Amino acid sequence: MKKIAIFASGNGSNAENIIRYFQSRNLNAEVVLVVSNRTDARVLQRAASFGVHSRVITREMLRDQKAVMSLMRQYEIDFIVLAGFLLMVPSFLVAHYNHRMLNIHPSLLPKFGGKGMYGDNVHKAVVAAGETETGITIHFVSEQYDEGDILFQASTPVETADTPEDVARKIHELEQLHFPRVIADALLSC
Ligand code: GRF
Repeated sequence: MKKIAIFASGNGSNAENIIRYFQSRNLNAEVVLVVSNRTDARVLQRAASFGVHSRVITREMLRDQKAVMSLMRQYEIDFIVLAGFLLMVPSFLVAHYNHRMLNIHPSLLPKFGGKGMYGDNVHKAVVAAGETETGITIHFVSEQYDEGDILFQASTPVETADTPEDVARKIHELEQLHFPRVIADALLSC
């Protein structure tokens, strides 16, 4: 059984979708841990309601290699999924989970990636730039945040009348549709 940890900072709709996906299928993989950097993140309640353990790790704790690696060992984590995790992942963790750590970014990278490009900032920038399409990118995590090998992209049109909220809704739909399956595929080859 492959064991997955999800790192998430906020709402956790992706985390919940991924937990449900693996709980409802026989894929030889399960989400065993949710890690968040915020005590008030909704993702923590979502994890609890599916019987998944969670831990809150502050920015300082995340840099503590011994503590983080011991947590990963305790839960025998094989694979890490970043689903709306807003802290920089330390390089020791990236190195240890080389090609075993995925991130989802709510744009068609390399467009609208990099510093400050997270959450609604991305959708606002897409609308402001007059883009006619946007999408999601699922990629392996490298030390240069949004620059790891791209595993999957899916796009959606942006209409001239679309607001950032409209774009966010379209992105959310793409994420719900594709993210768990792409994780399952990546797990097969790791
Ligand atoms: C998603 O749009 C994801 O692409 C981005 O952060 C958002 C997280 O949403 N990186 P949620 O917490 O999964 O609801």
